[in-house]
Amino acid sequence: MAGQARIIDGKAAAAELRAEIAREIATLRAATGLAPGLHVVLVGDDPASRVYVASKEKLAAEVGMNSVAHRLPAETSEAALLAKLAELNADDAVDGILVQLPLPKHIDTAAIIDAIDPAKDVDGLHPINAGRLASGKASAATLLAPCTPLGCMLLLRQALPSLAGLEAVVIGRSELVGRPVAQLLLQADCTVTIAHSRTKDLAAVIRRADIVVAAVGRPGFVKGDWIKPGATVIDVGINRSPDGKLVGDVDYAEVVDVAGAITPVPGGVGPMTIACLLRNTLTAFRARRG
Ligand code: GUN
Repeated sequence: MAGQARIIDGKAAAAELRAEIAREIATLRAATGLAPGLHVVLVGDDPASRVYVASKEKLAAEVGMNSVAHRLPAETSEAALLAKLAELNADDAVDGILVQLPLPKHIDTAAIIDAIDPAKDVDGLHPINAGRLASGKASAATLLAPCTPLGCMLLLRQALPSLAGLEAVVIGRSELVGRPVAQLLLQADCTVTIAHSRTKDLAAVIRRADIVVAAVGRPGFVKGDWIKPGATVIDVGINRSPDGKLVGDVDYAEVVDVAGAITPVPGGVGPMTIACLLRNTLTAFRARRG
């Protein structure tokens, strides 16, 4: 049996990133009198979404941003939400806009994301930003990439001396995580495979990986004997187990004995997501205001 993997502390990394952002905002405010404005829009009262939006609102204020949450009733029409976005797009004090997902079923999510000004799309989900990421041509200083994938990359760079040439396997092909994290890994010169529910002999594919990013939404799905000894494992899953505990997509108890480094759940990727949202808001502020 190999030793225990190093535990990648996402909570500490996120706190450090937020502290760095707070220092940069203090400097900007002193020099210009301005601070980035982040506006988060929540439609309806999904309990998990309410918690996420409250965290985003609080942490944005803590780093010195002008933080505003717009809480709209569940019966808000698509037209009314589009009108709200048009107002935020036109407001020069708004640097970042995030519409919390999932939206109520009567609203077309793609139409809403398309309506956000790409320069203010701090979620990195607008087709223009997804396209810039996929083209490989955008500079890291101006690119608005999705927040959870950015968080995964920051943790990987902290855990590994270099990513170039490593075999990375991403499990999951979602718009929010799987696809964009694969693009970021490719940008970092990894050899990237995107595995998914139709992949044949998934265990054999994962066994090749120096880096595994699990984003499938199935508790404890990735087993210890699928992991190459010493691999770095990034667990994006946040699942509620029957006893109410938060568990990842990785069978932590098994994988921790095989991997070289692993993110825990909770305290791994999760805290990085909001820290990266704040980073994107600062990126959007700088890009918009020169
Ligand atoms: N719901 C769960 N994760 C996310 C996210 O990254 N962005 C948005 N907008 N909604 C989410």
